[in-house]
Amino acid sequence: MTGLLIKGGTVVGPQGAIPGDVLVVGEKISAIFMPGDGPVEGDFETLDATGKYVIPGGVDAHTHMELPFGGTFASDTFDTGTRAAAFGGTTTIIDFAVQRTGEVVQDGLAAWHAKAAGECHVDYAFHQILGGVDDESLKAMDQLVTDEGITSFKLFMAYPGVFYSDDGQILRAMQKARDNGAMIMMHAENGPAIDVLVKQALERGETDPLYHGLTRPEALEAEATSRAIWLASVAADCPLYIVHLSASKALEQVAAARDLGRNVFAETCPQYLYLTLEDQLGADGFEGAKWVCSTPLRSKHEPHRADLWKGLRSNDLSVVSTDHCPFCFKDQKELGIGDFSKIPNGIGSVEHRVDLLYQGVVDGKLSLARWVETIATTPARMFGLYPRKGIVAPGSDADIVLYDPSARTRISVETHHMNMDHSAWEGYEIAGKVDTVISRGTVIVSGDAYHGRKGHGQFLRRGLSDYLL
Ligand code: URP
Ligand code: ZN
Ligand code: ZN
Ligand code: ZN
Repeated sequence: MTGLLIKGGTVVGPQGAIPGDVLVVGEKISAIFMPGDGPVEGDFETLDATGKYVIPGGVDAHTHMELPFGGTFASDTFDTGTRAAAFGGTTTIIDFAVQRTGEVVQDGLAAWHAKAAGECHVDYAFHQILGGVDDESLKAMDQLVTDEGITSFKLFMAYPGVFYSDDGQILRAMQKARDNGAMIMMHAENGPAIDVLVKQALERGETDPLYHGLTRPEALEAEATSRAIWLASVAADCPLYIVHLSASKALEQVAAARDLGRNVFAETCPQYLYLTLEDQLGADGFEGAKWVCSTPLRSKHEPHRADLWKGLRSNDLSVVSTDHCPFCFKDQKELGIGDFSKIPNGIGSVEHRVDLLYQGVVDGKLSLARWVETIATTPARMFGLYPRKGIVAPGSDADIVLYDPSARTRISVETHHMNMDHSAWEGYEIAGKVDTVISRGTVIVSGDAYHGRKGHGQFLRRGLSDYLL
């Protein structure tokens, strides 16, 4: 038997942080031993993990490679985006296949398979965006769950005319999800009301990027979140997952539903834990476009960030995903010069999520176990990938990160691997560093060296959520 023995590290998972040696055979984790109790050295290639955390590879449950938006496309391909993910310790992404309004769902899915096949450096799965709900798309939901390993569907209460579903459509999709066990993921912002505020702002000559955030107030995120939760209750408690939750009052809606025992979950993203509207205000004029995303960044003068960290501890927020949706400044963000509503929405972070959330450990806001839970274990369980992904345990895929808490890194466009001409995180100092990344038994990142390859990443058919009631 040949294998790889990861020796001397501290294995971290939801169970805590425990010293142990991990044996990898082929693509799987074969065994975990008490320190030094493993097989005799020499039979195995050995990786010295002394002083490092041995964690499951990150599972980023929300990315948008090549997303069409506002007449352009997100700038990372599956090739560049999954390579950047690998550098950042993420070994699984769940991207969103897109059905545009009027298109056949299966055609949208086939187009996504065509973009990703043979291109990915790490394993990947898909959620399906439904750009509207009708008899055909409801039938497609059954087919995707049964035959395609796609068990979650994103609906939009925002973006009328693009991806938008009205309340009746949402209810029908939720009833279908209740029947077939799928998860409904909701972009919870009141799009029609936002569109009124946007039009009024533009009429007043308020065209700068900062008006993006000011025309998407917290109330319209909280209202939509509450409405989605009530609609899910009418659909006999269909499982509901609120994406990219940014604000205190939206979190209150989720927490209240969860306190009632409702089948409601939410994710937040690193940008809402760290960045603020004031970062945008402080930027020079149109530079603020770099931080245009939806839901928007919130003000530092309100308690959003502290509340979101608290939500991560209390499990009212279960998952941290990136909502990685990169656009270059030149020619892409610049589409919105003179009209903020034309700035393509999104921030690129797929490379930085593991590092950024580790700062929560450094700052005493998260335990080591909770760090790993929110970036790997829970997203795997939430979206039907567990225990293949999200845990360092015998039988699981050998997707493993050695994380060095004593190293330091600094985020910059000069050194990142995402296909972007700027970074929303420029100059961020990180205490800790992804040291080694293993994907299905293969070392793909070692320090700053890359050993992976395009095409190594495989499509993952997902099962139903572990959190299904
Ligand atoms: O600004 C964002 N979030 N862009 C990506 C699309 C979405 O709504 O997730
Ligand atoms: Zn969204
Ligand atoms: Zn609670
Ligand atoms: Zn998104």
